[in-house]
Order: sequence, then structure tokens, then C-alpha cells
Amino acid sequence: MAFIDFKDSELYVENLQAKELAAEYGTPLYVYSKGALSDRFNAFEDALKSKKHQVCFAVKACSSLAVLHLMAKLGAGFDIVSEGELRRVIAAGGDPKKVVYSGVGKTESEIEYALSAGINCLNIESPEEIDTVIAVAKRLGVVAPVALRVNPGVDAKTHPYISTGLKNNKFGVCEEEAFELYKKMAKEPCLKVSGIDCHIGSQMTTGAPILEATDKILSLYNKLLAEGIKVDHIDMGGGLGVTYDKETPPSVAEYVSPILKKLENIDVALYLEPGRAMVANACLLLSKVVYQKNNGGKHFVITDTGMNDMIRPALYGSYMTIVNATVHADGETVVSDIVGPICESDDFLGKDRALNVRNGDILAVKGAGAYGSSMSSTYNSRRLPCEVMVDGDKSYVIKKRQSFEDIWKDETVID
Ligand code: LLP
Repeated sequence: MAFIDFKDSELYVENLQAKELAAEYGTPLYVYSKGALSDRFNAFEDALKSKKHQVCFAVKACSSLAVLHLMAKLGAGFDIVSEGELRRVIAAGGDPKKVVYSGVGKTESEIEYALSAGINCLNIESPEEIDTVIAVAKRLGVVAPVALRVNPGVDAKTHPYISTGLKNNKFGVCEEEAFELYKKMAKEPCLKVSGIDCHIGSQMTTGAPILEATDKILSLYNKLLAEGIKVDHIDMGGGLGVTYDKETPPSVAEYVSPILKKLENIDVALYLEPGRAMVANACLLLSKVVYQKNNGGKHFVITDTGMNDMIRPALYGSYMTIVNATVHADGETVVSDIVGPICESDDFLGKDRALNVRNGDILAVKGAGAYGSSMSSTYNSRRLPCEVMVDGDKSYVIKKRQSFEDIWKDETVID
């Protein structure tokens, strides 16, 4: 049986019923399966085992400490994009020596913190950032391990908001510029040119774009080698898609093995930065049906879970599968919009869903582990949701539901 599945009309996470978890901890509730998370990490490790490699979990996808701690214990490195994420990784027991740091706007103080912590590699994204890294490294008297994030001009064929490898977006530097910048960096005694980095987009459901990008990175690798510049790793970023609905992305092995094949004869380690593929389908977001009503010929199922708890449908129009955690043997299936309590028209979890629902039922949003809790907010002064991790027949609170006072604890009034 899968880690998250139906048995006798009840949805289970490992050995525990979703309905009972919701009754015990309340809703909205993020529920992670420890088994499913470990399974996904092991799939990456397994697929990469024939080559030197480092799996750097993209912290932004799910930054809950318990998830990071589990990843760290399994041996993961991390891809971070802020000082806060690096501090989280360290707080969760992760090893800074396995951390790569991406992002177009790293500030001087963030770079200083990262270099002092001894991270594995700074993925530099602009000529000006190179100068900042040089200045900070000189001031600290350290040699900064660096890669350039190269924008290979490849269309990841995904949602425009999460496509990052095209020439006209803000990420990385273009291939032509990269060659010159590598030559400049190689001359700097306070820099160690250690890798070539790229990330072309997220939720890719075919392997073709990443292979096209690998070819481009390989040709840059060879050009650099001919100049006497030898990097020790190639980082192909994250991006492997998952099934939210009917998508059929490659398996981890199918995605990784053609990349490995292209790198077969060169002496580099392969780094990957998977986020979504590691956590999305290892988690449910549980919500409770509060009311139902008809408006203008449309049926609405109103839940206690809003766009502040899960913003993906509202922000990207993302489709996320929603199921009733208890399958009713009788009752009526009605096509409904599943909405939340927030005062915004785009506060919905799903539209036009055929569901047999009663008030008080627990609905489960599947695929909620990636960019779910990490993108949640307190909009409408709603508390951040509780999160639990299930391990076999035990469940653990990994994030307490916020108290109301927590929401405004750093605020003050003036007269
Ligand atoms: N590395 C870098 C540099 C990234 O920018 C990202 C994601 C990843 C790795 C991880 O990509 P993944 O394996 O998860 O596809 N909030 C959006 C997704 C934004 C992705 C941003 N970058 C969503 O909910 O779909």
C-alpha cells in the first residue's frame, strides 16, 4: 500500500486515518508521511549512486524543521535562497558544508553569514554579485567557493511564473557572458571556482528540457576546461514535476539516468536541487467543511482552509486534487467550488469538483507538501496551520498551531 491511500473508504496516512488526525489536531492541518519523505529522498540517492553526487533539497519547497531534520539525517544537502533558510537548515541539524546558495538578490550580510558558516557553494547570479563576494571574502580572509548560475535559454515548458531558464527573466547570467565571467573569477585568489549551476524551471513533466540544458552546460564545461578552468561539480537544479492531476512526469530514475549518461565521461559530481518532487506527494492538507450554499446557480463548499494556508490555486491557478477523506456509500455527488473563508474571490482550493460532501466532513488536498506550508501566511489574521508528521501508527506535532497573540507579538501601538 502507498504511504497515503484509501482503505475501506477511509483515507490513511501510513497507519492513521486522516479523519482521526483532523479530529485530534484540528484543521487546517498539514500531515506529512515520514515514510513517503524518506522514500522520495532514497529514490534520488539511488538514481544517482553511480556517480559522485549531492542531493540538495530545495528548502523553499518545505522549510518545516522536522522535514529538514529528516532530510539531513538521511544525508541530504540543501539548496537555500536566504540567510533565514541557512539558519533554519543549521537549526534543523543540517550540514552547512552541503549547502548551495542560490538567489538573485543575496545581500552583503547574507553572503558574509554564508561564507562564515562554511557553505559548499555560492551560486552567483550576476556580475555585480561577483564583486560583492570578492569584497566579502577578502574582508573575512577566506576563499569563497563559487559557481555561476547559467541561464541556458531553455524553455522548461511550464507555468510562466515558475519557468526560470529563458533568456529574458531575472535569473542567472547568459551562456556567452558566463564564459568571460568564469575567466575573471578564476583569476581571483579569494575565489575557488567550484561549479557550474543552472535551474531552468519547476514542475517539468518531461525530461527533454533538462537534457537540452545539460548539453549547454556541458559545452560550457568543455570550453572552460580548454581554458584550464576545471570545476568539480555541475548543478542541474530542481524542477522535476509531480502528479497533481493527470500529469505523467518521468520517475526520478527516468529523469536522472539520461543526465548521468551525458556526464558519464567527465570527472565531476552531479548536484541536484529537488524540492517539489521530494515532498509534494508526501503530504495532505486537511480541511473541514463548514457550510454549503448555492449562489447564482453555482454550488459552493465552504471550508475552514483558505488561500493563506494554501496559495497555489489562487496564485498560479494550480490544480490540486481534493478528496473527501471518508467515501460515503450514499448521498449525492455535486459539482462544487471548494472555497475558504478569506475575503477574496480567488480564495479557492478547487473549482468545479464532483464531490459527495456533508458539513463536518474532512477534505484532503493532495500534493500539498511542496510550496504549501512554506508559502502560508497570516492574511486575515488567521493562524499558521498546525503540522504533524506520521510515522507508522504514531503522529507527532512538528509545528504547533499558532496562537492568536503570536500573530501580532512583534507589533506595537503608538499614541
Ligand atoms: N533550485 C532553485 C534555484 C529554485 O529556484 C527552485 C524553485 C528549486 C531549486 C526547486 O525546484 P522544484 O524541484 O521544486 O521544482 N511556488 C511555486 C514553485 C516555485 C519554484 C521556485 N524555484 C509553486 O508552488 O509551484
